Amino acid sequence: EAPALDAPLIRASIALGAVAPVVVRASAAESFLVGKSLNEETIAEAARLAVQAASPIDDIRSSAEYRRAMVEALTARALRQIAAGETRAGWPEQPVLLWGDTGGVWPVTRRNGKRSEGADANERTALVNGRSVALPGGMTLLDSLRAVGFVGVKEGCAEGECGACTVSLDGMAVMACMVPAERAWGGEILTVEGLAACGQLHPVQQAFIESGGVQCGYCTPGFLVSAAKLLEERPHPDIAAAAEALTGNFCRCTGYHKILEAVVRAGELQAAASA
Ligand code: FES
Ligand code: FES
Repeated sequence: EAPALDAPLIRASIALGAVAPVVVRASAAESFLVGKSLNEETIAEAARLAVQAASPIDDIRSSAEYRRAMVEALTARALRQIAAGETRAGWPEQPVLLWGDTGGVWPVTRRNGKRSEGADANERTALVNGRSVALPGGMTLLDSLRAVGFVGVKEGCAEGECGACTVSLDGMAVMACMVPAERAWGGEILTVEGLAACGQLHPVQQAFIESGGVQCGYCTPGFLVSAAKLLEERPHPDIAAAAEALTGNFCRCTGYHKILEAVVRAGELQAAASA
């Protein structure tokens, strides 16, 4: 039997991300909530206490004051959703994850104890676009791939913000600037250079050309890889799915319409090719 939503809490865990050097627990708010039921007063007090755990920075994206205010607002919002039994409110029924068919299990190529031939962690090799490649370590996967010639993988921000460096690692889309090269040893990587097969453009490449989605050389490789991953999950994406899939890819010239149209068109091209 599900506990009553207004029952006193036995345990409370609140974690805050991006408002301190590492993810932190809001321990004062957690202790306060134990033994209490969620109502407007307790929620407001817990949200106020949660701010104590935050030590945000001031930077170009927002002030520390704004971030503290957001901790309070978002904590209160989350607790109200829990109290109302609506923790998944606003979540898509089937979120786009860009995980292909991996189910999010990492690392995929080693899941059953099997290794891909040509990819060996001890030998510091990975299978890149189907070819065994020695990847230098001591750097990001982005720098490592570029060092060995995969310069289609672009550096836009180098801090996980823009998606220009998106590649598929063991079947999942990752931002290569946020992954140590060592993480890819023994794994399988697909870069933009590997999308075309047997001299035939990938449907997303063809669609980007047809729809005018190719706008600049920095963003396009990442868009193409994310779009290709989307087609594995949603063979017929609509505009909403395309937009969700590309939330991690920035176009600084803001020309998103043609890009989204291209992703939908890619689904049509893929369907036509397999008919
Ligand atoms: S370069 Fe990796 S996310 Fe921008
Ligand atoms: S596609 Fe690169 S800035 Fe718009």
